[in-house]
Amino acid sequence: MNDAKHKHSSEQPTTRREMSRRQFLSYALGGTTAFMAAGVTIPMIRFAVDPILQPTGAGDFVKVVEESKITNEPKSFKFQIHQVDGWYESDIELEAWIMKDEKGAVYALSPVCKHLGCTVNWNADTRYPNQFFCPCHEAHYTKEGKNLAVAPLPLDEYKIKIESGFVYLGKVQPNQHVTK
Ligand code: FES
Repeated sequence: MNDAKHKHSSEQPTTRREMSRRQFLSYALGGTTAFMAAGVTIPMIRFAVDPILQPTGAGDFVKVVEESKITNEPKSFKFQIHQVDGWYESDIELEAWIMKDEKGAVYALSPVCKHLGCTVNWNADTRYPNQFFCPCHEAHYTKEGKNLAVAPLPLDEYKIKIESGFVYLGKVQPNQHVTK
């Protein structure tokens, strides 16, 4: 009887220890997984949402800026599109980096990094002068949007038209300016 009692009381702490170790591990793993999932999910949500944010319908162009303001140096311009999604209507702000190529043709790049969807900036890091730079994981791109590191693809480009001295931007499409 005493033996049995003794056995019982000596097993209890072992079980409790194993449980709490298991619990600790599951909390730790759960926390790490949630943290990693958030890091992957947030940019993925942006990717999922971005196509909705693009101008819709063939031939949709938005007047963005006077052509005379465009130089060889990339400049960032924000513009709005009106979006109708079922019953819901909204104005969405988009951004484009607009500049001239070496032949003087105007083109516009999307600021959305092709790695995981953060926003690139021109000339933002002293290690990569005259390049687009993404602060999230240090992808960088040439002025034409060619991917030099980290990102798997060149920056996308907006469809563009010049009319009556103004630059109009349309849908985002794969980069046309990068020569392989
Ligand atoms: S999102 Fe990773 S480098 Fe831009």
